[in-house]
Amino acid sequence: MPENPPSPTIAEAVAILRDGGLLAIPTETVYGLAADARNPEAIARIFALKGRPADHPLIVHIADADRLDDWAVTIPEAARKLAAAFWPGPLTLILKKRAEVADAVTGGQDTVGLRSPDHALTLALLKAFGGGLAAPSANRFGRISPTSAGHVRDEFGENAPPILDGGPCPVGIESTIVDLSQRPPRILREGHIRREQLLPFLPELQSGLAAASPRVSGSLDAHYAPRTQMRMLEREPLIEAATDDPRCVLLALDGLPPETQGLSLPAQPEAYAHGLYAALRELDARDATCILIEQPPSGPDWLAVNDRIKRALAGAGL
Ligand code: TXA
Ligand code: MG
Repeated sequence: MPENPPSPTIAEAVAILRDGGLLAIPTETVYGLAADARNPEAIARIFALKGRPADHPLIVHIADADRLDDWAVTIPEAARKLAAAFWPGPLTLILKKRAEVADAVTGGQDTVGLRSPDHALTLALLKAFGGGLAAPSANRFGRISPTSAGHVRDEFGENAPPILDGGPCPVGIESTIVDLSQRPPRILREGHIRREQLLPFLPELQSGLAAASPRVSGSLDAHYAPRTQMRMLEREPLIEAATDDPRCVLLALDGLPPETQGLSLPAQPEAYAHGLYAALRELDARDATCILIEQPPSGPDWLAVNDRIKRALAGAGL
């Protein structure tokens, strides 16, 4: 096995980006596949490597809220307050774009998604680079988002770009996306930052896609999906199903039942989210006949986790 190439230095990473190259970057949520957001040829390389349809917009990552006006216009006061409260952090704001922001980034829409990621290495990179980095999650289209440098290598093999290795991602699921480009504002994707945290800033906040909402790839039914078939069951039927078919592996909550194979995640929403994608990847690699997932609790704290599991179930085995 050839050794993994070393993680580039910040100076090397800046040079790669200035040259129009791709770079995998760590964030607090998941790893991103980044390119200079002002360079349409570099952006085209992201879509080609990911296998992502061209009309799916990318998030532009920026160093801090002072950069908002470089990308967006008619920014509502609430957007600035949200940025002040939650950036750097796992919150993406959809705003009206400046005319010069490339269609390649926005999927031809008149809006742009912006966020400042809470990761020391990537913040240092953004400061040194000076511009914005367009970056989707660093996985092939429809597959499980990567939460470590090793996952990015697994996704792209020998085509993997240089990876700025920032260790495992602490949050583990993608950012909350709020659309502030139309009224009322709307949550387009649930994440670590919950609706109750946003409500003081956005009393009329809605959830889910409105009929006229832009297309959000994370909102396709099948997404974040393993190749192995998956089923979700409550604990008792889960144990029965595992007994019936010992070639199934389990993703259990708070402890693996005796005499079953698989993994267990803590019954606490943040800890569960942190481990979810790595667990799905590991179980998918075991070549089991199916992955049986224990149904997590419902309720607002579990919304983001349940959203990802629902989409993984819809796409599993495809
Ligand atoms: O946590 C995250 O958001 C990660 C890290 C790398 O920052 N990024 C991420 O990117 O999840 P991606 O491309 O896998 O998902 C971004 C989502 C997509 O569903 C995309 O459609 C939506 O954001 N999006 C981006 N720009 C948008 C826009 N202008 N309007 C509506 N949705 C947008
Ligand atoms: Mg993604």
